[in-house]
Amino acid sequence: MPNVFITGARTGIGLELVKTFADHGWYVRAACRQTEVFPEDAKGGGVQVVALDVLDPANIEHVAALLKDQPIDVLLNVAGVFDSVSNTVDDDTLLTSMSDMTRVFQTNTIAPRIIAEWLLPNLHLGTERLVVTISSVMGTFATLDDYHACHWLYGASKAAVTYAMTAFAKTSPDVKSVLIHPGWVKTHMGGKDAPLDPAEVAEKIYLLIENHKDRLPNGVFVDVDGSVMER
Ligand SMILES: NC(=O)c1ccc[n+]([C@@H]2O[C@H](COP(=O)([O-])OP(=O)(O)OC[C@H]3O[C@@H](n4cnc5c(N)ncnc54)[C@H](OP(=O)(O)O)[C@@H]3O)[C@@H](O)[C@H]2O)c1
Repeated sequence: MPNVFITGARTGIGLELVKTFADHGWYVRAACRQTEVFPEDAKGGGVQVVALDVLDPANIEHVAALLKDQPIDVLLNVAGVFDSVSNTVDDDTLLTSMSDMTRVFQTNTIAPRIIAEWLLPNLHLGTERLVVTISSVMGTFATLDDYHACHWLYGASKAAVTYAMTAFAKTSPDVKSVLIHPGWVKTHMGGKDAPLDPAEVAEKIYLLIENHKDRLPNGVFVDVDGSVMER
């Protein structure tokens, strides 16, 4: 049975990916920071809930130790945060603002790369040797208009994770690193006006991985239909 390790697994796209991979017969390690409120309907024989706050280095180290010598076929970096409260700075809240800003980069950019590095021995033991990271079109220069400029922090963190995980494809060429833009999806982050359903997006991501992983070049950035994205 193939297996997948998914971060940000409690809600949104991550949760739907847990259900989708489990439905297709994969063993799923569903990593989230609030395991006690992981949805009951997503628990089952093939789903193991793992405590992981991607901002906590000790927690990452602990998970890597827990999984020592166990293969991981696919790592799916899904956990992410938007920048809605922290993309401007005023004098009174400079310290708080900069700390919030750093948190966006730590979550969206640094954590996916560090987790891939810490789980690299497990990926080497797996059969697929694949890391998939959810990035965003908001991290591309092609979309940099006035609206997106106001969300420069999120966009910059996603541009940076696209770079970081493309660089991972070069520093660890024996493991394939793929970046995916999921589209604008109806989740806590995407909001209620988003046109795409998270379950449908999760199924497309699953099919992309299952059917096209071998033909996707290492370091590629694609949308859920497999079309190559501009950076
Ligand atoms: N929705 C869209 O339109 C869209 C578009 C492009 C890209 N994306 C990307 O897709 C990914 C999933 O987002 P979503 O739309 O599904 O939004 P979401 O429902 O808000 O999910 C974000 C997930 O990230 C988790 N997370 C945040 N900080 C974490 C931390 N420190 N440790 C562990 N988990 C953490 C959250 O966990 P908690 O449950 O504990 O809060 C939550 O489960 C993100 O990377 C996002 O940037 C989304």
